[in-house]
Amino acid sequence: MRIVLLGAPGAGKGTQAKKLIEKYAIPQISTGDILRKAVADGTPLGKEAKAVMDRGELVPDKIVLGLVEERLQQDDCKNGYILDGFPRNTAQAEALDTMLASMGAPLTIALSVDVDKDDLMKRLTGRRTCRNCQQMYNVYFSPSGKEGVCDKCSGELIQRNDDKEETIKKRLDVYEAQTAPLIDYYGKKGILKSVSGVGSIDEIFVRVCAALG
Ligand code: AP5
Ligand code: MG
Repeated sequence: MRIVLLGAPGAGKGTQAKKLIEKYAIPQISTGDILRKAVADGTPLGKEAKAVMDRGELVPDKIVLGLVEERLQQDDCKNGYILDGFPRNTAQAEALDTMLASMGAPLTIALSVDVDKDDLMKRLTGRRTCRNCQQMYNVYFSPSGKEGVCDKCSGELIQRNDDKEETIKKRLDVYEAQTAPLIDYYGKKGILKSVSGVGSIDEIFVRVCAALG
């Protein structure tokens, strides 16, 4: 199954992708995670991407497309994958279609997870991630047992650099202007399904699995 997860920042793409990995035994490809790792490792690419990400804008298509193309060639993508946070604009979606056509393996489904703007702000300002194992928490909705400490590995919980209120507003604007049109793009291709992203994580996962069939 070759899946694109669509949804605004904070819609729960990463959260649902983690559950899909287990159920379908296919990898999650999060361009955001790949870029954040490059930033943390201080690679030339990371240095180029950092300022753009901290502003809440999109990293240039050329960089992201190169990353995705390389990742899709890897062995673990043979049986499918979950693209999370990619594509992010029409140019990326068209480039992905071309890439997949040449591989003879087009997308199976684009699944949109829909959440209202007011909920998104709280989810994003409350998000905390374990520096060590990447487990995600939320100070409002799913806090760790001990503040600032991961329940799973006792690692330190950190806040993403772009989860500040001003940057979140920018990310939501960028989503509306550049990414939301992809709902129409995939709708016209006949591979779009949408689920409500409101409710408990497990409730939403039931909807996601039903949509995937
Ligand atoms: P990226 O990492 O993709 O961030 P995003 O799209 O802004 O999405 P998020 O990761 O913030 O949200 P999510 O939907 O994954 O939600 P999550 O599951 O974490 O991109 C970051 C940056 O990288 C971009 O701004 C850009 O600069 C760059 N970039 C990335 N891809 C790019 C591309 N293709 N092109 C160009 N630039 C690119 O959940 C959020 C919170 O809510 C968590 O705390 C979670 O615990 C909580 N939560 C989840 N579900 C629920 C629920 N049901 N109820 C209550 N709380 C919930
Ligand atoms: Mg994410």
